[in-house]
Amino acid sequence: MSRLPEGFLWGGATAANQCEGGYLEGGRGLANVDVVPAGKDRFPVAEGKMVMTECDDAHVYPSHEAIDMYHHYKEDIKLFAEMGFKCYRFSIAWSRIFPMGDEAEPNEEGLAFYESMIDECLKYGIEPLITICHFDVPMHLITEYGSWRSRKMVDFYVRYCEAIFTRFKDKVKYWLTFNEINMLLHLPFMGAGLLIKEGENADQVKYQAAHNELVASALATKRAHEINPGFMIGCMLAAGNTYANTCAPQDVWKSMEKDRENYFFIDVQSRGAYPNYALKMFERENINIQMEPQDAQILKENTVDFISFSYYSSRLTSADPQVSQKTEGNVFATLKNPYLEASEWGWQIDPLGLRITMNAMYDRYQKPLFIVENGLGAVDTKEEDGSIHDEYRIAYLREHIKAMKDAVNIDGVELLGYTPWGCIDLVSAGTGEMRKRYGFIYVDKDDEGKGTLERSRKDSFEWYKRVIATNGEELD
Ligand code: BG6
Repeated sequence: MSRLPEGFLWGGATAANQCEGGYLEGGRGLANVDVVPAGKDRFPVAEGKMVMTECDDAHVYPSHEAIDMYHHYKEDIKLFAEMGFKCYRFSIAWSRIFPMGDEAEPNEEGLAFYESMIDECLKYGIEPLITICHFDVPMHLITEYGSWRSRKMVDFYVRYCEAIFTRFKDKVKYWLTFNEINMLLHLPFMGAGLLIKEGENADQVKYQAAHNELVASALATKRAHEINPGFMIGCMLAAGNTYANTCAPQDVWKSMEKDRENYFFIDVQSRGAYPNYALKMFERENINIQMEPQDAQILKENTVDFISFSYYSSRLTSADPQVSQKTEGNVFATLKNPYLEASEWGWQIDPLGLRITMNAMYDRYQKPLFIVENGLGAVDTKEEDGSIHDEYRIAYLREHIKAMKDAVNIDGVELLGYTPWGCIDLVSAGTGEMRKRYGFIYVDKDDEGKGTLERSRKDSFEWYKRVIATNGEELD
């Protein structure tokens, strides 16, 4: 058989802070993602090296309006339905539900907003896939508690999960606890609300925060299964295997070490215990993680039901310091692979790398996978007649879908679905730009914040509609 399974979840993915806007509407509280500006200060702020805990007049903050999905979601979901989406992955903004983060009761207006979004999906037979935390942390939890460096965050997060699990228990089945949990290591402020103080051992802070997130994720999984045993809870990794630059054993070893930096999180979430290589690394690096006596059992007993991940590219590493020609990638740069083309942003294009990554993850975890992000960020041109010919995006997606099908049909990887990133144009997480577009749907807004916000269909819209209608059989 060489077909994808019936019921395969084709769809698209977005995140609240990159598309919703309405950042102070409906009782929503300020979050870390609201103070990460566009422009040259974006990276230092996202890394937690430049402290910004409130907005100022000198910066532009793209999340404040984004594409204003807060007011356009009905129109947007209708367009997703027109493409035939079976599934829509979106995130709930934590600070819409708990504006400060430490309140006892949730904000009804926030819950009602998401209920309406979910109902809109269900109206068209679209299965919601909800990311509980896509980078956002209520600002009050950062200034008052130090965000995920504090154990108290576990309780606040679980309370938030309970509120949404209970409210949506009969409407939502698929949940992801943390988007790209490994981003915490690379963008500690944007990914987890962490501010690293001068002179602090950054790894100590990050791995303590990681532990707190891992326990929170396991406890959320526990509560989820108690509230509705039918819930499917997933973890989420910024994936992409690391290749060795040569067959020199030192290069191969280095690539293994690099992959373990990422696998570490999923090893805990999926296998239920800290891997030995991580425990040894903590010892070597003098990292002392404060754990509660019950933590090991919590992690062991509450592993995830499926493994989701984003894939944009493979990575490349070398043990030889002379090999240093780099190119951009998802958040962090990687060595340039001479066999690969790259996007306008320098992200290398490697469809076979998706098949390699899927096989590596499935071999390691033996649980169903879900590709919840993949896509090409590119500049689109709107022609005078309003059409947008994005054949480069179609080419990228076509080749990745072929590789994904090979992993399923030839290699036997279990795959629940495919939700390409930014199915509607949205703000880039890495750069804060609008012109880095991923969508099948064009949104009239530029980097200066100007535009009518009007939505229009790109050529890829009709193409993807046919892909879904044929369950991935017609790709041309
Ligand atoms: C992932 C994130 O890192 O990649 C998304 O989960 C992000 O939030 C996506 O938008 C693409 O990255 P970028 O920097 O092109 O927006």
